[in-house]
Amino acid sequence: MGKKVTKAIFPVAGMGTRFLPATKSVPKEIMTLVDRPLVQYAIDEARAAGIKEFIFVTSRGKGALEDYFDHAPQLEQELKKKGKEELLETLKNTNMDSGEIAYIRQHRALGLGHAVWCARRLIHNEPFAVMLPDDVIAAEKPCLQQMVEAYEETGGSMVAAMEVPANKASSYGILDVDNDMGSMVSVKGMVEKPAEGTAPSNLAVIGRYILSPNIFRHLNQIKSGAGGEIQLTDAIAREIGGEGDGVYGYRFRGQRFDCGSKAGFLQATVAFGLARDDLRDDLEGYLNEIVASRKAAE
Ligand code: UTP
Repeated sequence: MGKKVTKAIFPVAGMGTRFLPATKSVPKEIMTLVDRPLVQYAIDEARAAGIKEFIFVTSRGKGALEDYFDHAPQLEQELKKKGKEELLETLKNTNMDSGEIAYIRQHRALGLGHAVWCARRLIHNEPFAVMLPDDVIAAEKPCLQQMVEAYEETGGSMVAAMEVPANKASSYGILDVDNDMGSMVSVKGMVEKPAEGTAPSNLAVIGRYILSPNIFRHLNQIKSGAGGEIQLTDAIAREIGGEGDGVYGYRFRGQRFDCGSKAGFLQATVAFGLARDDLRDDLEGYLNEIVASRKAAE
């Protein structure tokens, strides 16, 4: 039985080069999906899963992200004066209490594994979650909550997994499955970005993890891997066999959008727009119009 998971690390120190020039001055994580920044979706998901401490691994140029979590008394006062209760409530829900959020700097972008390692002194001998805010997951029950519930039964380490087409496997960490139990698989190996045709399965790891604190010991030892970066996948793989607590892949129920890519971000914008009562009709009408006019032009 796993211990309670109350801390989450949000590695947001990457350069976001796929969104240049926007990311020259706007951190990718505060880019807006409908009306809230990507990071707000991750925070809401974390809270639903019982996370109480939020640790951000940031880098130079991410000041706007830190500002986003500050209270905005002047704005709140203004909304109150104007009787805009609903907006006031929305705003208040984005506030973080003092001491609930911490920022650690990753001085050089040496990879996701290195970013997680930077937060090692804030995690004691307890399991913790890692969430990548550019993976946005639409789900009835938030993805991390699904994972925490499963983790409380299994212990070990757990990664969110989803099926990907064979020709996309080389963009992901891929699981080598030992035992397939349906919503969960036990894992006998993991490979980061396997060369084409060598992936051990079609189950890819996406940006939600529940990790054993042993991971820091492994991260202390590993050298850079795929792409010259210190890979989190390589550290998790060391939990398999031997003295490790084991690794499980969890097939979450929900739809994941890769908001770190332009196509994924646009798809998420449409999907989240269509899910909103106040936007659905207009957006749907517009989409139908475009599709019809493109068809007519063919
Ligand atoms: P990505 O591979 O998406 O890299 O990182 P990126 O820099 O954000 O974006 P591109 O590829 O240049 O467009 C996955 C996650 O790991 C974090 C990123 O911030 C993102 O949340 N990361 C990556 C770090 O925190 N530090 C690193 O050194 C690398």
